[in-house]
Amino acid sequence: MIHQIADNVYCVGVNDWDTRTFHGHEMSTARGTTYNAYLVVDEKETVLIDTVAAHYTEELVANISQVIDPARITTIITQHAEPDHSGSLVRMKALAPGAQIICSNRGTDSINGHYHTDWPLRVVGTGDTLDCGRMKMTFFMAPMCHWPDSMMTHLGGPDILFSNDAFGQHFATPAVFDDQAQNDKLWFEAEKYYCNIITPYGRNVLNRLDELGTLALPVKMIAPSHGTIWRKQVGPILEAYRRWAQQQTENRVVVLYDTMYESTRHLADAISQGLEDEQIEYSRYNAAVTDRSDLLTEMFGARGILFGSPTWQMTVLPSISTLMEDIKTLRFKNRLVGGFGSYGWQKACVQHIEQRARDAGLEVPVEGITVQWRPREEDLERAREFGRQFAQAVKS
Ligand code: FEO
Repeated sequence: MIHQIADNVYCVGVNDWDTRTFHGHEMSTARGTTYNAYLVVDEKETVLIDTVAAHYTEELVANISQVIDPARITTIITQHAEPDHSGSLVRMKALAPGAQIICSNRGTDSINGHYHTDWPLRVVGTGDTLDCGRMKMTFFMAPMCHWPDSMMTHLGGPDILFSNDAFGQHFATPAVFDDQAQNDKLWFEAEKYYCNIITPYGRNVLNRLDELGTLALPVKMIAPSHGTIWRKQVGPILEAYRRWAQQQTENRVVVLYDTMYESTRHLADAISQGLEDEQIEYSRYNAAVTDRSDLLTEMFGARGILFGSPTWQMTVLPSISTLMEDIKTLRFKNRLVGGFGSYGWQKACVQHIEQRARDAGLEVPVEGITVQWRPREEDLERAREFGRQFAQAVKS
């Protein structure tokens, strides 16, 4: 299905209602995703901006054919050659053999690396333009938003910023624009996308936002390559990206634990009471039975994170170990971390949690709680006090 988003500008991408994982099986996509490609039809140029995942190629071709004969395409802009956006490039080039392909400098690596072709590629840099006729495109390099090859395209006239991955959401929906979507789901998916994909590159995102500001290009719409198009909340999503890139947090706590024989769960109960005593907002999840990508999103805006696990194989259970590796890989900053857990024979779990938190550059403000076998009442009181102290550290 195609959607006209401005005069002579069409969204010709596809909704993928079925997928439930992304990056292979690394990230969950509970609401599916979209692969947005855009067609700009002007006097001098007919431009296709990005394509779709390979298994949706014929749907893309059918969508374009509702507007024009694909052979009329004069330019294909590959803003980023990850296969969810470049998967139909070979087919489109075959249908429009005369079309030039525009990409960033690093895009030559990723396009050639993926498709082993000898197409001539036109490399552009920030500020380079393409005269389409009545409308003009201005290119903007956005490395690491998401890959080194990432770039964006501004279309003057309707003043649309085609932003590729940035500002996207894995969100299959009939809504084309943000104001047509369910706003709470839209924002959850936008934050989940940022957290799970863009977080390590926050410094770079801030630089790109500043640079975009200096170009002083008017932006009435932001059209990403996943999810809905921002037109009513352009300002808020730009502000959110700045806030997320700075890793601003709220004074709340997320308690994540796994348990084998309930001892660590009982500690989580007591710690939760301590948090409640201090009237701090908290949420609590058994990490073994909760979606990992959603947990990371939940943790993303929280100042305090508590990890609980029994000792298992001289370390912590895999659900907790994975999340601790994630917060290091995603380069979480400005978080306070605490540990708690039970053990039978080896008192290793909390030491392990605290060491990994410090290795990730995160502060451990309160010594953790470790209990042998099942917690007694005095252990539970220690855990309540730990919760109170941790809450105070977060609030301060
Ligand atoms: Fe949506 Fe980095 O690809």
